[in-house]
This record gives sequence, structure tokens and C-alpha cells, in this order.
Amino acid sequence: MDSFEFNKIAMSVLGVIFIVMSLNFVSDGIFHSEVPEEPGYLIEVAESSGGEAEEDTGPAYEPIAALLANASVEAGQGVAKRCAACHTFEQGGANKVGPALYGVVNRDIASVDGFGYSGALTEYGNGKQWTYDELNGFLWKPKTYVKGTSMGFAGLKDVEDRADIVAYLRSLSATPAPLPDPEAAAADTAEETANEGDAANTENAEEEAPANAEATESEASGESDASQNPEASESDEGSAETENSEAGSDNTPAQEGAASEEQPASEEEGASQ
Ligand code: HEC
Repeated sequence: MDSFEFNKIAMSVLGVIFIVMSLNFVSDGIFHSEVPEEPGYLIEVAESSGGEAEEDTGPAYEPIAALLANASVEAGQGVAKRCAACHTFEQGGANKVGPALYGVVNRDIASVDGFGYSGALTEYGNGKQWTYDELNGFLWKPKTYVKGTSMGFAGLKDVEDRADIVAYLRSLSATPAPLPDPEAAAADTAEETANEGDAANTENAEEEAPANAEATESEASGESDASQNPEASESDEGSAETENSEAGSDNTPAQEGAASEEQPASEEEGASQ
């Protein structure tokens, strides 16, 4: 009889488990839900602490210097609508949540009278101006660029938006600041990102570099006999061309064969310098 009781209990437990599992199975089939790739909500204002770890690992922002020449003041005026809740742009405009922005380009950072800047921006701006580069970085992600700023704005991810708004800010002056030197801008661009549009300038800027590289290479091959002389090849890596020529004269007695080949090489070098 005991075992009969036990069987009843065991059967009912198993039965419940079976029913729960099949319910689960059936409801999964009916209410199948997929996790969306992007969350349906976006939080605009980043807190100064927490949630920043992710922000920091983002890719560095692109430079705007090369884009400024072709940036659109009108488009920038459109972008400025996103700032208008907190900033005024007209001459003599008042401070709102943020300081008045008329004439901000090349103005000292955190310098508008009567505005209560955050300690973070005041400290960051010590001795600095709002150059194009500074504006570009700040407007990219204010809270990342100046940790602790009170500007509650997520930033302008699109490099063209940033170029346009900065072009607009630049126009807000009786004497707009000069645009960045296009060649410097191109060099900037070549360094940080390959940006089309300035391909021609970029090539010019790079012309010199390969020439030098060739010179060092041909030296290196001239001294391929340097394998006999590990010191010489080490100083090669040191990159200093003058070291090489020194090494050449030092080594002359040691490697008679190579000496004649080396001599012209180091003379050429002297000429090119
Ligand atoms: C939610 C309000 C808010 C929005 C939106 C906002 N800002 Fe600001 N902005 C501020 C505050 C507040 C400060 C002062 C920051 C500090 O003291 O750390 C500031 C500071 C600045 C400064 C530094 C000015 C100075 O005198 O040093 C610039 C430049 C600036 N904002 C540009 C912009 C631009 C351009 C936009 C739109 C793309 C924008 N801001 C959107 C609130 C805002």
C-alpha cells in the first residue's frame, strides 16, 4: 500500500512537471519574441559617472579642419536649433542654461562674464581658446572631451554636422577667424583618417616622406655587407642618417670590400642633407 501511495505522489509530481513544460513549450511557440538588435529607446543625456566606460572606447572623432572650407553656414544654422534651448547666438545675446555663443570661435574657454561655468570646464580651459580643434572635440562628445562639464548634450557624431555648426559659429563675428591653413588641414587628415576630397593635397604632403625612405633603403642595401658587422646594422635601425655615415668611416678599416661601396653612399647622403 505504501508503494501505491508513493507511486501516486510520484506520478502527480511528474504530471505537474510535464504540464508546466508543455505549457512553456506551447507558449514559446505562440509568443515567440525576438530580441531587437537596437534598443527601442535611447538615452540622450549621459551621466557624468557610470555608463561612460562604453563611451570612452568609441573611435576617436574625425578632424573637421579639411571640411571647414566647404562647410555650410546655413546647414550649421539648422544644427544650431539643437543648441538653442540652452544657448543664444545673436550679438549681445543673453546667457541661458549655457553661455552666449556669439563670437565663440577663438574666444577664451569659459570666459563669458556672469555665466557660472562648471569647475571642470574652467579648469580645462585654463589658458586655452575655442580653436576649431577644441570645438570639434567638445561638440563631438562634450562629456567625454571635458570630463565633468555641465553641458548636458550628447554630442554631434556626424563630422559634417560638426563642421557645419563650427562654420556657423565662425560666421557669428564682425571679423570671422581665418579658416585653417588647407595644407595643415590636409596633413591632419592624412594623419588621422584618409578623407577623400583632399586627396591631391595629401599626396603633395606625402611626397617628401617616400623620398627619404628610399634614401635610407638604398643605404641599407649598400651596406648589406654589414651582416659581417652587427654594430653597423644596429645603428641602421637607430634611423639617424648621420650615425650611418659615422659608422661608415669607423668601419672602413674593418670591411675593406664594403668600404668602396659605402663611401659614395654616404657622400650622396651628405649631399641630400
Ligand atoms: C542642455 C543644454 C545645452 C545644450 C543643448 C547645448 N549646450 Fe553648450 N553648454 C551648455 C552649458 C551648461 C555649458 C557650460 C558648460 C560648463 O560650464 O561646463 C555649455 C558650454 C558650451 C560651450 C563653451 C562656451 C564657453 O564660453 O566656453 C560651447 C562652445 C557650447 N556649449 C556649444 C554648444 C553647441 C554648438 C551646442 C549645440 C550643438 C550646444 N552647446 C548645446 C548647455 C548646453
